[in-house]
Amino acid sequence: MQEKLHDFISADDIKNIVRRLGKQLSLDYASLLKPEEPLKVIIILKGAILFASDLIREITVPIRLDMIRLASYGSSTRSSGEIRMLKDLEESPKDSHVLILDEIVDTGRTLAVLIQKLRTAGAKSVRTCTLLNKASRREVSINVDYVGQEIEDRFVVGYGLDFNEAYRNLPAIYYIKT
Ligand code: IMP
Ligand code: MG
Repeated sequence: MQEKLHDFISADDIKNIVRRLGKQLSLDYASLLKPEEPLKVIIILKGAILFASDLIREITVPIRLDMIRLASYGSSTRSSGEIRMLKDLEESPKDSHVLILDEIVDTGRTLAVLIQKLRTAGAKSVRTCTLLNKASRREVSINVDYVGQEIEDRFVVGYGLDFNEAYRNLPAIYYIKT
């Protein structure tokens, strides 16, 4: 099946959003972290890898990277709300200031699971940063601290975001009608 892609967020617009987020995060964490204390950045695989690789280059405080793979069962454009962990963190988040990077927040269930896991494991603070936010789709109440752009309830692909694993490599973001 070949979907029709509609222009949505250009590569230049993404760059500007990422720069703005990087500046804000650098400022905020410079005052929160102790001297030489690294920020623990957790990337949610796989969708957030492009966003994360661009964003961490804009962050000027020291960081340590970790990754987790979370996925929800469901159809290609609607998540079921049942979250599976396919790859766990490699380091304990205990006593770290943690920043979670996701590319899009939809129902909020994925982030809710991860925030709870990090709190339980003893993180000093947990903040969340997403490139895109579909606030109107939220099913659980979670706090998203840094949002690149609010979007309507549209299914988007590109820049890490997939439809049945396709389109992750596109440098810009498109929406598809399903
Ligand atoms: P949540 O648990 O419903 O917030 O699901 C978030 C995850 O669903 C994201 O990290 C994406 O992997 C996926 N997702 C939600 N909306 C979209 C979309 O429009 N395009 C591609 N993936 C999406
Ligand atoms: Mg994701």
